[in-house]
Formats: sequence, structure tokens, C-alpha cells
Amino acid sequence: MRETESMLPSRMRVLVTGGTGFVGAEITRRLIAKGVEVRCLSRRRQSVVAGSIPVSASLFDSGALERAVRGCDAVIHLVGIISEIRDQTFERVHVEGTRRVLAASRATGVRRIVHMSAMGARETAVARYLQTKWAAEELVRHSGMDWTLLRPSLIYGPGDGVVSLFEKLSRFSPVVPVMGSGRSLLQPVAVEDVARLFVESLSRTSVFRQTLEVGGPDRISFNQLVEGILVRLHRRRWVWHLPMALARFQALVLECIYPTLLGKAPPLNRDQIQMLAEDNVADVSTTWDEFGFQPEGWESGLDRLLGAVRPR
Ligand SMILES: NC(=O)c1ccc[n+]([C@@H]2O[C@H](COP(=O)([O-])OP(=O)(O)OC[C@H]3O[C@@H](n4cnc5c(N)ncnc54)[C@H](OP(=O)(O)O)[C@@H]3O)[C@@H](O)[C@H]2O)c1
Repeated sequence: MRETESMLPSRMRVLVTGGTGFVGAEITRRLIAKGVEVRCLSRRRQSVVAGSIPVSASLFDSGALERAVRGCDAVIHLVGIISEIRDQTFERVHVEGTRRVLAASRATGVRRIVHMSAMGARETAVARYLQTKWAAEELVRHSGMDWTLLRPSLIYGPGDGVVSLFEKLSRFSPVVPVMGSGRSLLQPVAVEDVARLFVESLSRTSVFRQTLEVGGPDRISFNQLVEGILVRLHRRRWVWHLPMALARFQALVLECIYPTLLGKAPPLNRDQIQMLAEDNVADVSTTWDEFGFQPEGWESGLDRLLGAVRPR
């Protein structure tokens, strides 16, 4: 951790919803390192960060949620899904789930919430992931609480969904699929930087009632992202650009097969294809200026994650 990080009040108690997930675990580790008591809410207990207090409950178990929030100084609300299965729909998890968290916070007198949204969330989005993230943002903005909304672009780090996917795919396959032209832009940001923003937001009154875009310093295309991964792994692979119509059809098939036959959320869905076709970049300078530190660049972050490119 860098030395300029802000202090949190000692004996602070925070509920982290989705605290066992990729981003949640990093936030939880940071909070624990700062002496904060962390309650980690998720449906399963696996991978609960050591030192946190596990709360095994769904957002939709109102009694458990209220007990988990009671006595906390703040809530970090991270629960979100990228793929739907059964009653875990975007609408239910993002919108109804957030409504429940806000209701439980109000009922127990908790005023502070730092909410995880996503860059590109807007009312007019075609992707339902982004539409429902927007609807959840609106609930938070009108909650009357001391809220902060953070909207990251792609987050990368150990155990993420994209870099690790391409790492695994390229381990066995001579072909690496990229949906469409791969020219749409992303602003990848390291999970450690995102976690630091969440933790510092807790006590920074200047970000109360603010919606902040979060991204790294570099705007890169999906093609550059894949190339960066393959170069660091010294794997020469054929990058196959799947036409968008074919990618959509493939996603539709997976959406039908996975939940019914395998009982799992599909690894790819039409919403993701839609989002891959759009740029996901924004002006993030006000966010980092506000917090007084600069995010790590993509190249150096990827070196740290996969190892720097060594001369052969
Ligand atoms: N990763 C990215 O690049 C990225 C970028 C922008 C925004 N975000 C947002 O950041 C948040 C966290 O993302 P992530 O990548 O860390 O996701 P993740 O690894 O899938 O974690 C999701 C967490 O939510 C929990 N959860 C899911 N449904 C739940 C429910 N009904 N009740 C209680 N807990 C539930 C999961 O645990 P159980 O399954 O055990 O319940 C897990 O702890 C999401 O809101 C996501 O939309 C992510």
C-alpha cells in the first residue's frame, strides 16, 4: 500500500456484499489490513478472506441482510452478475438486490454506501447488464443516504474474468477467438487500484453524492489486450475474429444449453457480445485527481500479473 493512503476510523465496521468475489476479496483484504471489522455477505462461504466475518446469505434473505447491516458504519455493495441463471436475473440481482440493501441500511440507520456500478451504465443501453446497473444507480442516487457511485471499465488482476480466460484458453488451444473486429476500446484498471478507491471512499466526505468513472490511464483495443497477454506468455496463437452475427448465435446456443443441461450460467451471453461491440472508455482524470494517486498503466499491470516480457 502506498503511504499517502487515508486513515479509516479505528474499529470501523463495514458490510461488503459480494465480499468473496474477485473485487470483493481484494477490498476485504485491504479493509482488514487497516483494522476494519468486515462482514462478508455472499451465498457461499468458500473463499471468504481470512479475518473477515462470513455471512452466508442471499441479498434476498431480508432478515439475514438486516442482521448483517445492523451495527455497521458503512456498506460496500458489490454484488453483481455478468450472466443470468434461473432467478439470478440482471433485473433481480442489480435492481431489486440494491433496493433491498438500501432498505436494510435505512431500517438499521446506516447512512454510508459505496456502490459498485459499471462504466457505460445508462438508461438507453442495449445490454440489459448496463440498463439494470443504471437503474440501480438511480435507486442509490435517490436513496437519501451518503452515497458514492464508482463505475469501472474492465478490472483485471489475479482471478479476473478476462485475462485468466485468455491465459487458460491459449494454454491448450492453437486458436484464440475474439468477437467481432476486436477494435472497440477498453480502459483496463488494476483490481488493487479499484479496491483502494472503494476503501478510501468510505471516509472521504468530498466524494459523498458523487458518481465517478473508473479506468486505467490507457485506452486499448480488445485486440491489444489479447496480444499483450499472448506476448507475455510467449504463446503464438491464431486470433480468430468471429463475425458478430455468429458470435451472437453462439451465445444464444450457450444461453439455452448451460442453464438447462449443466445448471450453470452460460460462459458467454448476448449481452456480453453487445458490450464487446461498444467502446468502454471515459474521462477518468477527475476521479484520480480527487483521490490524489494515479492508477497503474496496463503494460506494467500486466507485467506484474503475468510476468514481464523476457527477451528470448
Ligand atoms: N470484474 C470486472 O471487470 C467489473 C467491471 C465493472 C464492474 N464490475 C462489477 O463489480 C462487481 C463485482 O464483480 P466481480 O468481478 O468481483 O464479480 P464476482 O467475482 O462474480 O463476485 C460476485 C459476488 O457476488 C456474490 N453474489 C452473487 N449473487 C448474490 C446474491 N444473490 N446474494 C448474495 N451474494 C451474491 C458472489 O458470491 P456467491 O455467488 O457465493 O453468492 C460473489 O461474492 C459486480 O457488481 C460487477 O458488475 C466488475
